Amino acid sequence: MLKLSPSVLSADFGHLAEDIQIIDQAGSEYIHLDVMDGSFVPNISFGAPVIKSVRPVSDKVFDVHLMIDEPVRFLQDYKNCGADIVTVHAEACKHLHRTIAAIKELGMKAGVALNPATPLSVLDYVLEDVDMILIMSVNPGFGGQKFIPSSLRKITETRALLNSRGLQTDIQVDGGVTLSNVAEIIQAGANVLVAGSAVFKGDKVENVKAFHKIFSE
Ligand code: DX5
Ligand code: ZN
Repeated sequence: MLKLSPSVLSADFGHLAEDIQIIDQAGSEYIHLDVMDGSFVPNISFGAPVIKSVRPVSDKVFDVHLMIDEPVRFLQDYKNCGADIVTVHAEACKHLHRTIAAIKELGMKAGVALNPATPLSVLDYVLEDVDMILIMSVNPGFGGQKFIPSSLRKITETRALLNSRGLQTDIQVDGGVTLSNVAEIIQAGANVLVAGSAVFKGDKVENVKAFHKIFSE
């Protein structure tokens, strides 16, 4: 099933709770929350206390994308603030296998994100343990960047790899996803689509509806 995960990085942080309610009621399946530490990525966003404060306004899946070094140090905090899915970057973990196991021991779903230059092969020995693979289609750190075209081949190869192992793992794509390119991203094999500026710029409700219309075609 195709799922839309609007990234609240492009929301109005002064009205974060209201913006989340609006995209929830418009029918978004997930809410994508980007946590940045100013070290792994060159930007700082928000962390567990902010997620905790907006958790009561929506029952949707909280899809937390950790762009932080050694996320294993903070997993309990993300459990406590109400994360459903926690995605860590392969590049940010000294012990990726241990980090995935720790997320699952806490009862959350485990995602692994790959930066544009990171090869799929880093997932070879953990593929069976992962609930979602996040293919970054921009270099992480900022909203509103342009989709990197080579990401399409990476998505295709990820789906082929999963199929060859008999796995139906979710493939999430994040960065530069728009109403104009989402169809080919889905065609390549992605099924969880993150969109920040493409949802929050303009009419949020209409934008969510427009994504869902494409999903149904
Ligand atoms: C980028 C973040 C994304 C970002 C996407 O580092 O991980 O989730 O908000 O924004 P858009 O959709 O505008 O590229
Ligand atoms: Zn993200």
